[in-house]
Amino acid sequence: MDRRNFINASVLSGLGITLTSFIPDSKQRKVKSIRGTFSQTDNKYSIYTKAKITPAHIFHITDTHLSIDDERGIPYQEFSKRMAGAYKSNTHFQTGEKYSTRQSFEMTLELAKKEKVDFLALTGDIFSFPSEAAVEWVLQKLKDTGIPFAYVAGNHDWHYEGMKGSSQQLRATWTGKHLKPMYQGNNPLYATYNFRGVRYVCIDDSTYEILPEQLDFFKEQVKRNDPFVLLMHIPLYMPGRSMGFGCANPGWGEESDRNFEIERREKWRKNGHTKITMNFYDAVFNAPNLLTVLAGHTHHQSLDIKNRIPQIVSAHNATGYYADIRIDNLP
Ligand SMILES: [Fe+2]
Repeated sequence: MDRRNFINASVLSGLGITLTSFIPDSKQRKVKSIRGTFSQTDNKYSIYTKAKITPAHIFHITDTHLSIDDERGIPYQEFSKRMAGAYKSNTHFQTGEKYSTRQSFEMTLELAKKEKVDFLALTGDIFSFPSEAAVEWVLQKLKDTGIPFAYVAGNHDWHYEGMKGSSQQLRATWTGKHLKPMYQGNNPLYATYNFRGVRYVCIDDSTYEILPEQLDFFKEQVKRNDPFVLLMHIPLYMPGRSMGFGCANPGWGEESDRNFEIERREKWRKNGHTKITMNFYDAVFNAPNLLTVLAGHTHHQSLDIKNRIPQIVSAHNATGYYADIRIDNLP
């Protein structure tokens, strides 16, 4: 094994990290990877690529669960009530002090500004429900930092609990209406944001599933053969992890859905994941130009590695958590 790619397994297990498959499969050997090495200390990550890029310092922010609302939200209160009452007081991940979600988000952005962060990757559940007031507030806060950002939705961002319609329909409705400005003119389901030689590829998997057009779009990104980072809300399946790692999880489906009643939503698909979602999983973990996956949803920090590709899951920003990531050229 290449010395650069060697990570001590016992150190990783102490950090709550699982090595799923550390040996590249035969498919991987055919195309030369442009990944370099990566390292982690607490919430700080360094990711290196063999491709020539301009180094960037990014913050990964996910699951703030803001519930800011105003009179425009009154007609929707029947659907937003439960989540509006959640995450009222949150223990900061470093200081142990109590903060509101609004304060946590503001503190994170202030730090990003102070540290001259270049790019913000927002991977969903920034909102607990699609409140127009919250979207306006977030956009103003982001604008005030002057830092470019990419956003992809989580399962709560577009969800008004108990509202009629399938998850796919509700996502289309509320990403198109209230969340629209968050996408900066891009397609809510799939988009790329180019920054300093790295593409930040957003794929909305907030229904846990991947649509055929999203798989096609993803394959196009792989073909381009320059380095990219994949932004999604729901982490991809890792053996031994919880159902929170639900995208392409073979155990996912109607029978394993425990929360459809409390969240008042459509049950997960009867026969589990579609072939498209499973094909997406294979495409991700065989992409020679994918530097890392960034996801949220579980509200816990974790790092898994499959076919040498890291999947970084960040804890919820409701607690002030953010991942501090440097993307750089391999020295
Ligand atoms: Fe969340």
